[in-house]
Amino acid sequence: MLKTVQEAATILGVSPDTIRRWEKKGLIKALRSTHNYRLFDVNELQRVYDKYSAQHSSRGFYVLKTEPHRFNVIELFSGAGGLALGFENAGFETRLLVEWDKDAANTLKANRPSWNVLHSDVARVDFQDYADAVDVVAGGFPCQAFSYAGQGRGFEDTRGTLFFEFARCVSQIRPKIALGENVKGLLEHDSGRTLRTMVHILEDLGYKVCFRVLKAQFLDVPQKRERVFIVGVREDIDQSFSFPSERDYTLSLREALEGCPKSAGALYPEKKRRVLEMVPPGGYWRDLPDDVQRDYMGGSYHLTGGKTGMARRLDWDEPSLTLTCSPAQKQTERCHPSETRPLTVREYARLQTFPDDWAFSGSIASQYKQIGNAVPVNLGYHVARAIYDTLSGTSEGAVTKREPTEVPRQLSLWETST
Ligand SMILES: C[S@@+](CC[C@H](N)C(=O)[O-])C[C@H]1O[C@@H](n2cnc3c(N)ncnc32)[C@H](O)[C@@H]1O
Repeated sequence: MLKTVQEAATILGVSPDTIRRWEKKGLIKALRSTHNYRLFDVNELQRVYDKYSAQHSSRGFYVLKTEPHRFNVIELFSGAGGLALGFENAGFETRLLVEWDKDAANTLKANRPSWNVLHSDVARVDFQDYADAVDVVAGGFPCQAFSYAGQGRGFEDTRGTLFFEFARCVSQIRPKIALGENVKGLLEHDSGRTLRTMVHILEDLGYKVCFRVLKAQFLDVPQKRERVFIVGVREDIDQSFSFPSERDYTLSLREALEGCPKSAGALYPEKKRRVLEMVPPGGYWRDLPDDVQRDYMGGSYHLTGGKTGMARRLDWDEPSLTLTCSPAQKQTERCHPSETRPLTVREYARLQTFPDDWAFSGSIASQYKQIGNAVPVNLGYHVARAIYDTLSGTSEGAVTKREPTEVPRQLSLWETST
C-alpha cells in the first residue's frame, strides 16, 4: 500500500518537510506517481520507523567477510587495498596487485606480506605469464577521454590511456570476468563517449558487458559514495551476473565510529576552527551569521549553487558525506559532528570500512589520500561476492543478456534499466 508525503509524515510522527529532506538524502526511498508526487510503500515506512524508534539497536561497525578462497583475482591500480580487501573477504585469493604509488604499495605489503605486490607503472608490466590462469581482472583506472578513438583499430585506438593498460591486461590474461571501477562522472565524461568506447572495446575483446552505479550507503558502508562498476563476463562463460541489491538500511556515523581507536589527524587553522565552531551538526555555511558567511565564503558567497560542502559539519545520525583525499578542503569540509576538527585517519578508515588493524604507510596527508581514493571495503565485498556467485553458477542472474552495444545518450536511463 502506498502513502503520500503527508500520510508518511503522520505515520512517522515527523513533518512533511522532514520526509522530503530524508528522501533527498536517500534515508527513505520514495516511488513516484504519474504526476511525479512522492509515494511511500508501507514496508519502507516500517523500516524507517524501526530504524529511528527505540526498537532500533545499533549494528555498530563491521567489515563483511565470508568463506575461504575459491577463486583468484589480479587488480591493477590497487591503491591501499580497499577493493583488494573486499575481494579477499569475499573468498578470492590475490594473485597480483599493481600500484605505482610507493606509500600505497607499502601499505599493501605491510598488511599482507603474502600478497604479490608489484610497485610499478602498469604500462611496464607484461601479464602473459598469467594467461588463462586468472578468474578476475579488476581495475579502477583513472578516467581519460578517447577523443581520438574510433579509427577502427579496437583498443589500440585508446593507447596511451590507463584504460588501454587495463584492456591490454584483460586481452593478455583473458580472465573469466573483467571488472572496471570508476567515479560516477564517467557516465557523462566526454558526453558519454568515454564509457561507450570502454564498453565497445571490452565487447570486442569477447566480453558481455553491463555497468551500474552502486550507492555505497545501501551496501553496508556508512558513507554516501557512488561508483560506477563495469562488468564483463567472457562470452564462453555460460553464467549470468547480477549486481548486488541495495540493503534496506543505512549505517549512521554514530554506528560507524563507535569504539574507533584514537589516531593522528589533521587540524584546522585557528580562524577556520572558530568559524566551524558555530556550525551545528548536519549544518553548513548557511547556518553561520551573515557577516561570518560573507567573510568565510569570499567570492563564492555570490555564486549560484548550494555549495553545501562548504563549512560542513557531519551529522551523527546519517551516513557520512563522500570522503575526499584531504579532510579539510574548503569546498568539501567534513567536520567531526561534535568536536571542531577534521576526522582522524582511523575515523576516515572506518567510514571506508577498512578494519582497525589495516595500517597505512606514509605521511598523514598520504594516508588520508590512500583512504579517500579507496573503494570502500564492504562495497568491494558486495561486488566481489556478486562475481563469486557468477563464477560458482549461483547468481540469480538479472543480467543474463548481452547489454545494448549502443550506449544511449540518456545514460541514466540505461543505468536504471540494468
Ligand atoms: C582510485 S585509486 C585505486 C583505489 C583502489 N582500487 C582501492 O580500492 O583502494 C587509483 C590508484 O591508481 C594508481 N595509479 C595511477 N596510475 C597508475 C599507473 N600507471 N600504474 C600503477 N598505478 C597507478 C594511483 O597511485 C592510485 O593509487
